[in-house]
Amino acid sequence: MAPMDSGERGMRKGLTSYGDAGFSLFLRKAFIKGMGYSDDALERPIIGIANTYSGYNACHANVPDLVEAVKRGVMLAGALPVEFPTISIHEAFSHPTSMFLRNLMAMDTEELVRAQPMDAVVLIGGCDKTVPAQLMGAASAGIPAVQLVSGPMLTGSHRGQRVGACTDCRHFWGRYRAGEIDDREIAEVNDQLVPTGGTCGVMGTASTMACVVEALGMMVPGSATAPAVSADRRRIAEMSGRCAVQLAARGTTPEQIMTRQAFENALTVLLAIGGSTNALVHLTAMAGRLGIKVDLDAFDRIGRRVPVLVDLKPSGKHYMQDLHMAGGLTTVLRELKPLLHLDCLTVSGNTLGEEIDSAPDSWAQEIVAPLSSPVYPQGGIAVLRGNLAPGGAIVKQSAATPGLLKHTGRAVVFTSIEDLTTRIDDPDLDVTADDILVLQNAGPKGAPGMPEAGYMPIPRKLANQGVKDMVRISDARMSGTASGTIVLHIVPESAEGGPLALVRDGDTIELDVATRRLELMVAESVLEERRAEFTPPRHAGAERGYKKLFLDSVLQADEGCDFAFLVPETNDVTPRGNA
Ligand code: FES
Ligand code: MG
Repeated sequence: MAPMDSGERGMRKGLTSYGDAGFSLFLRKAFIKGMGYSDDALERPIIGIANTYSGYNACHANVPDLVEAVKRGVMLAGALPVEFPTISIHEAFSHPTSMFLRNLMAMDTEELVRAQPMDAVVLIGGCDKTVPAQLMGAASAGIPAVQLVSGPMLTGSHRGQRVGACTDCRHFWGRYRAGEIDDREIAEVNDQLVPTGGTCGVMGTASTMACVVEALGMMVPGSATAPAVSADRRRIAEMSGRCAVQLAARGTTPEQIMTRQAFENALTVLLAIGGSTNALVHLTAMAGRLGIKVDLDAFDRIGRRVPVLVDLKPSGKHYMQDLHMAGGLTTVLRELKPLLHLDCLTVSGNTLGEEIDSAPDSWAQEIVAPLSSPVYPQGGIAVLRGNLAPGGAIVKQSAATPGLLKHTGRAVVFTSIEDLTTRIDDPDLDVTADDILVLQNAGPKGAPGMPEAGYMPIPRKLANQGVKDMVRISDARMSGTASGTIVLHIVPESAEGGPLALVRDGDTIELDVATRRLELMVAESVLEERRAEFTPPRHAGAERGYKKLFLDSVLQADEGCDFAFLVPETNDVTPRGNA
């Protein structure tokens, strides 16, 4: 109750500017009255609404409607809603990569939430980086917060086949590269992949973040899956507004909800939904803001007992709107009950267990499998170790080709994304389907920004022969909508002089997911010689501005790629070693 009891609520919060609190309040009210507010409105608790609408961000196309619905909910509960803008990040319009901007948005959100008077905040995000950025910011700002997502897009139809961004984008582009479809058809499909506003309609990063944040307790229960254009989505927005007012009255802060156990629930759900590998980096960053360390090896142990239950692309066949019609995340949570901490608090004021029990009963459906007969027997993501990844690497095994999960091959090395772009389709490239494609310098500092370059294209000459998948290894990330036998997030990254930087064409690499090994079969003495020759990459423009801040401060993937100076001392580890 701290914000309310102290009298420091609403317009009275943060009155420090002039050394005369009375005058500060007088001035503040004088200015905001320019927007037509009455004293009655300005005496109420204030709920900030972070508006991330942008003309560049179709994933947030419905945000103006959601802001209206949140405002209605706030006013129905007797408080004053005030919207404010923050930056907005869309995956396709964030050069050099959206991940480069995530921490900037987190800082923007944190500082605006802190700078402006509000008793709670509703954070409206959706596209991949926005939700983690907002919750990293809210965790550090420390005021009551409710996450609302814009919701998934609906699916489209191409010549009778159901399509949606962006697993099908990749699938059709792969067919085009292989010469299976022509210019005219690829242009036709381009019109259908994103048929409405909203986030990607598969279990990509945006959908994954929505689901794990619901499991974490930071969203109104039952709110992860409603499509962006649905009436359900607006009702959820209204509820989020009401919920924020109640949360402010109780004074419940994000750290009371985002506990170690709540992060364990989120990680369990990540594995069970076959979610995006990116979500692991984001959850690590969010937890890091609260002094909680996500331990990769313990995460892997959880993955050995949590199977994939959700049959959505890219691991399976269906789309987010199907999961919504199957009861949404609640259907998954109900199956996972024996594996969850049910006493964790949610923004509703009830525990996760109470929310699951009070949700509508389940019904027959084909999207969420029972725990007893899962879609995939283990968690979607496995953690690898070995001399090529001493600090860890990951592979989305549920979206890989089973026959490639144990594979030994000859390395074909690309030293940068530019090198990959230049040479991958060269007819003279010395490559066979049994080789392993290796990409260097695509990690947090290497690219910089750890872009989603880990999904390297199959060399055109092999694609033309019908090759659909190869083992690919890098320190980059991969889109949650992509699939393939792709090893990612190698720590330490090559730009830091990690072993990945020492791989050369023709080296032998051994991957064995069952035993979680990733080994470079080169003598240590040879690696030592190569190490002596290592020089870190240089980046144009690295001497000033945000790029300098980024390169000076970004942490490795196993620490969430947050900035070192934003992370407090770690004092808790999740999942616990015995999890
Ligand atoms: Fe925004 Fe996929 S591009 S969610
Ligand atoms: Mg994505």
